[in-house]
Amino acid sequence: MTKKQMKLGAFFMLPGHHLAAWRYPSAQPAEALTFDFIKEQVQLAEQAKLDMVFFADVFGQDIKENVAAVVKYDPIVLISALQAVTKKIGFVSTLTTTYNEPFHVARKFASIDHISGGRAAWNIVTSANPKESTLFGKDTHLEHARRYERAEEFVDVVKKLWFSVEEKALVIDKESGKFLDKTRTHRVEHEGEWFKVNGHLDQPSTPQGHPVLVQAGSSEAGKEFAAKSAEVIFTAWQTLEAGQEFYNDVKGRLSKYGRSADDLKIMPGVFITVAKTEEEAKEKQAYLSSFILPQVGLEYLSTVTGQDFSGKNIDDPFPREVYNDDSSDPNIRFNIIRDLAERENLQSIREVYQRVAGARGHREIVGTPEQIADQLEEWFVGGAADGFNIMPPHFPEGFKDILELVIPELQRRGLFRTEYEGSTLRDHLGLNVPTVEDVLNLVK
Ligand SMILES: Cc1cc2nc3c(=O)[nH]c(=O)nc-3n(C[C@H](O)[C@H](O)[C@H](O)COP(=O)(O)O)c2cc1C
Repeated sequence: MTKKQMKLGAFFMLPGHHLAAWRYPSAQPAEALTFDFIKEQVQLAEQAKLDMVFFADVFGQDIKENVAAVVKYDPIVLISALQAVTKKIGFVSTLTTTYNEPFHVARKFASIDHISGGRAAWNIVTSANPKESTLFGKDTHLEHARRYERAEEFVDVVKKLWFSVEEKALVIDKESGKFLDKTRTHRVEHEGEWFKVNGHLDQPSTPQGHPVLVQAGSSEAGKEFAAKSAEVIFTAWQTLEAGQEFYNDVKGRLSKYGRSADDLKIMPGVFITVAKTEEEAKEKQAYLSSFILPQVGLEYLSTVTGQDFSGKNIDDPFPREVYNDDSSDPNIRFNIIRDLAERENLQSIREVYQRVAGARGHREIVGTPEQIADQLEEWFVGGAADGFNIMPPHFPEGFKDILELVIPELQRRGLFRTEYEGSTLRDHLGLNVPTVEDVLNLVK
């Protein structure tokens, strides 16, 4: 029997996940804004046989002088171009249910799934950044629970639209003159609290049945939403125990929706710094962190803890006592940072921001290819992950190191593929193709 293999995606944040990535000597922050550069990186990911690349999307962020975050392309536009220069790798694009309409989203993702030959996935978010509201004429951001209520109805409508014309409805028979079998169309007549949609999508169901559905919530509402609808979950956990607890919790909710454990892949984020020796890897990590300007580190801590760090001396002790414990605030990973500072005995403010500015709440692994593979394997066989969302510290060097050092080690252990088994993202992830019956029964 062949060994069970992990799923691996690359989380593309250019020019890198680390706050100071763009200042790293080998980083190419200007080139990273060009399509040629992005194309090259995605092609390398495909050569390494990764399942997919993922583009997040958050807008309405403050403009800052020292942070390379101001230029971001619309991920749907980007993946439309990237699919044309690749053959197998899947693409995950983010789109928010809070500031869109179901018809638009259904149409965009169906289109990309068709033209890419079944390689599209939608990362369903409800907008983590409250400031997104200011771009859409709203005085306030919709409250957390209401955002999830809207998201649930949104996804139900999108699914109905995706199957409003079955793929088999297209007869295209020149002889008889019949183009379409109307009995295989299902007009959407939806009237709910948030949406009123009456009509069809102008595309048949897609090569994957419908695009893969991805989600990244970790609140109670987020987990329930994922259990009902998601096929991949991105998470941010620091310890094996926390990862296992989440894994068992979410997988345990699936049967309620008639789903089995294999219908949902859990892929925690991992921020990896790798080198041939442990010492060299640690040096690389420290060197990268040395490029964080104190002002940038303080601003970052203020954002993620909800406390005001501006003007603080970075060599002062990190204050542990005051924390915003509002776990419904999705923008603040304060609990994770507090626990990390405790666990690793981080003393100064500088130590804390240097420690968290790369992985941003996700798990960080620094070491040799063997050490990194050991840790990934431990989570994979230990029931905390079906795979990982790899977060390169910087591009191109940091990503190249991961592809050239870590992936071959995982392949040597039989933990990762050496060739694609199929051609759609569902093939790579081992996910079933949903049928019209599955979808229309579920969302009734
Ligand atoms: C790996 C990862 C990627 C995410 N990408 C986005 C994103 O692109 N846009 C966004 O608004 N939120 C993003 N989020 C935030 C989640 O969608 C969600 O709001 C957050 O994890 C809190 O979930 P909760 O509200 O259920 O606690 C991401 C979260 C994770 C862990």
